[in-house]
Amino acid sequence: MDTILTRSAAEAAQILKRGGLVAFPTETVYGLGANIFDEKAVSKIFSAKRRPADNPMIAHIFDRSQLPLLAKEISRDAGRLVEAFFPGPLTIVCRKTERVPMNATAGLETIGIRMPSHDLAREFLKNCETPVAAPSANLSGRPSPTTWRAVAEDLQGRIDCILQGDATEIGLESTVVDCASTVPTILRLGSVTFEQIREVIPETEVVSEVLKDPAKSPGLKHKHYAPSAAVKLVSANENFGGENAAFIGITEPAGTFVLKRICDTTQDYSREIFEFFRECDRQKIKTIYCETVENTGIGAALMDRLTRAAKR
Ligand code: TXA
Ligand code: MG
Repeated sequence: MDTILTRSAAEAAQILKRGGLVAFPTETVYGLGANIFDEKAVSKIFSAKRRPADNPMIAHIFDRSQLPLLAKEISRDAGRLVEAFFPGPLTIVCRKTERVPMNATAGLETIGIRMPSHDLAREFLKNCETPVAAPSANLSGRPSPTTWRAVAEDLQGRIDCILQGDATEIGLESTVVDCASTVPTILRLGSVTFEQIREVIPETEVVSEVLKDPAKSPGLKHKHYAPSAAVKLVSANENFGGENAAFIGITEPAGTFVLKRICDTTQDYSREIFEFFRECDRQKIKTIYCETVENTGIGAALMDRLTRAAKR
């Protein structure tokens, strides 16, 4: 299959409307989209990504008026989160309408909904004239793509179109909050932080690593974010390094490394991490040393991704 590369949101939307798969940028990571009401197109996402069929997708909207197409009801808490964080890097999980095909939600009666704030994403979604089902636009198990080149690396020849935008600003996937249970529960940490959500809904909980219920957020049980290299978490005062090693973090390390990325802030570190993992794989690095960061704010989301990448 030829993959069309374009900078035109209108052209990309035309391809989606004809049943095609289109990768598009958002403020978090690139997504791989299909018309959510087109069951056949949705099933093509699973095969293009080699995604396990039990991992549900997020529906992307450009306007709140599209919410009733997807959600049976917007609970009071869900409404508060929409009010506070839409558009932006937050996904709410609600009970789904009959219209949403079961393959999009991997058999669940709930659906994740997100309204990106990214200009090109919004222009694309508006032109699609339908909510768009989209997981991250990587081959399953690989780091999420933060550039259109990373999308092409994984999916060129497997999808219909890539809408080319800039490198993504945030670099980590959206915060996912389950609003279908009694107390809102964070299923995945992201750049909308636990602290920010608690300001809106003080009862909000975070699903703990131990208590993670695979039936609730199927994506959590799958291997994620992992480069081919081994990932080791270190703190700056430790001794580490060696042949074929790379380092990413905030503090300049003592050893020598084939590849080294010193970031100014935790936010920069978050933006760079997935592309750095990919660059290490291109250069056949064997071990990636990642400096740990404080487990608060976006640092908590970054630590979540680093911990998963290191767990192999
Ligand atoms: O930032 C993002 O969220 C990006 C961009 C493209 O929007 N998308 C993304 O999609 O990261 P994906 O499929 O890679 O991750 C979706 C996560 C998975 O962990 C999945 O299990 C969870 O959201 N999820 C989706 N629908 C769900 C549902 N109905 N119930 C519980 N978890 C759900
Ligand atoms: Mg993903």
